[in-house]
Amino acid sequence: MSFRPEDIPDQSGRIFLVTGANTGLGFQTSKALLKKGATVIMSCRSLDKGKLAKESLLETNKSGTIHLLKLDLSDLNEIKKFSAEIKNRFGFLDVLINNAGIMAPPQTLSKQGLEIQFAVNHLSHMALTLELLPLMSNIRGSKVVTVTSGAQYMGKIAWGNLQGEIKYDRWSSYSQSKLANVMFAIELEKRLRANKSETFSLLAHPGLAKTNLQANSIMTSNSWVEALAYKLMSPLFQSAEFGALPQLIAATRKKAKGGEQYVPRWNVKGLPRLAKVASSALQSEDREKLWSISQSLINDYISIQNQLPSNPRT
Ligand SMILES: NC(=O)c1ccc[n+]([C@@H]2O[C@H](COP(=O)([O-])OP(=O)(O)OC[C@H]3O[C@@H](n4cnc5c(N)ncnc54)[C@H](OP(=O)(O)O)[C@@H]3O)[C@@H](O)[C@H]2O)c1
Repeated sequence: MSFRPEDIPDQSGRIFLVTGANTGLGFQTSKALLKKGATVIMSCRSLDKGKLAKESLLETNKSGTIHLLKLDLSDLNEIKKFSAEIKNRFGFLDVLINNAGIMAPPQTLSKQGLEIQFAVNHLSHMALTLELLPLMSNIRGSKVVTVTSGAQYMGKIAWGNLQGEIKYDRWSSYSQSKLANVMFAIELEKRLRANKSETFSLLAHPGLAKTNLQANSIMTSNSWVEALAYKLMSPLFQSAEFGALPQLIAATRKKAKGGEQYVPRWNVKGLPRLAKVASSALQSEDREKLWSISQSLINDYISIQNQLPSNPRT
């Protein structure tokens, strides 16, 4: 069974937060949600880029409401202030879409000195989710949708080299961060159920979609091989609008269940369907280990009130 854009129901009165909303899949997700009457909070690392994106959305969308807030996920310190602002201004949240991401840059460190892909793609989204969960946990049908990639199936968690401190390989690090997205989302779902929360955790991956992700990767790595590879693979790519459909369906489908993953029908392109996650994300010991390492890394820099234990009685 596959899902169509028409399957997105009316979203009037619901509040969505989309990270990395100024371009690519985040922009298309915001656009489609606004069309359905949603209130969309666009979080962007650059307010200038965010303003341009917001203006462009306002030109075409007469329904829905847009808010723009700055959040640079390469700095864990921004998460506390950002989450407090969301709480003060909105009070609750229906859906958080953990969408922002970067792919395969040369070795780069976050503001806290952590490997940038691990930090932006995984760690900061985990911190953001834990901070915002109290705004969602009593809201029926609330969801956290984490955007992963087909790279999850090739991903391995390098336990002894999590930050590329011994050896850095930009692609292994990307796949690791996208597998970490899956492990986090599945573990989150397990803990939400154990804590009798109203919130559900789901996953989506877009297949191959034409966005800035590939261009930025080519630019930062200066790789002509990669540029050529993308040229040759061009017919396999779908539009960003289509690539956003799996996360849109995961975020809005009433019958969508926690732990589900939505992907394109032909894995790289096509209408969304349900798919199994990478088998390496199914080992609960590994998921708990990653959760605990990630939590202590986050706690080294910011204190997160909501720790969401695996067993609520402990
Ligand atoms: N496109 C694909 O084929 C594909 C395939 C598999 C998975 N994905 C996943 O889809 C998600 C969206 O990517 P996309 O394809 O839409 O790429 P994109 O066009 O490059 O958009 C990525 C978004 O993330 C933002 N971002 C990057 N670093 C950030 C930071 N430090 N703090 C806050 N925001 C940051 C970017 O902001 P700026 O505009 O300021 O850079 C941009 O808004 C990512 O998680 C990616 O891994 C994409």
